[in-house]
Amino acid sequence: MLNIILCGAPGSGKGTQSELIVKKYDLQHLSTGDVLRAEIAKGSELGKKIDALISQGNLVPDDMMYGVIENYIASLPADCKGTIFDGYPRTVAQAESLTELLKKHGMEAVMIDLLVDEQLLIQRLIERGKISGRADDNLNTIRHRIAVYHNQTEPIAHYYLHHGNYVAVNGNHNVEDVFLQIERILDK
Ligand code: AP5
Ligand code: MG
Repeated sequence: MLNIILCGAPGSGKGTQSELIVKKYDLQHLSTGDVLRAEIAKGSELGKKIDALISQGNLVPDDMMYGVIENYIASLPADCKGTIFDGYPRTVAQAESLTELLKKHGMEAVMIDLLVDEQLLIQRLIERGKISGRADDNLNTIRHRIAVYHNQTEPIAHYYLHHGNYVAVNGNHNVEDVFLQIERILDK
């Protein structure tokens, strides 16, 4: 079982690299951002609350996210080869609860941290914002998302480093070169 936590700032390439990993390693892909946007698209009351948070670039509360992950893990098919967790965990509390949940099911995970310079992140997201239709792809919100990442998400790198399952990848290169680095890690 190969469980990968793909972590990185907004625009670091989590979604892009997840697609390539899924193709080569036949894993499941869980993007919590996509799950939340699907809830918004339903127009539910919950979706409206989520929309207010995401469009400002703030995180959804941990307890709300916990239910999503718990349901996901409980519904994994028996022949599942593993999951790429794209955008989860995003706080130390989420990391702790994911470790516990995985442990309960006899699983563990390795964190791959995509490190990208801030100017490049902004450039990529502004460019994507021209076509993505994402409410959070505008300069003010992008800056706020990056600040939230530094304050709330970056500390999880220390959490995984401390637990001995952390690998950093230089995400400043083109898509193919970043994937090459990931392949080297996963093929070991
Ligand atoms: P989420 O959807 O996860 O957004 P994000 O973390 O802000 O990251 P992005 O999806 O914008 O970027 P990415 O790293 O996937 O990069 P991508 O491959 O698309 O979360 C959205 C929101 O949901 C959060 O802000 C929060 O509110 C909420 N949320 C989600 N999870 C949560 C959680 N666990 N707890 C609480 N709240 C949560 O690439 C970006 C662009 O760059 C693309 O155009 C791509 O083509 C391009 N690109 C990618 N790689 C390269 C490369 N190597 N070279 C050149 N261009 C590249
Ligand atoms: Mg993404």
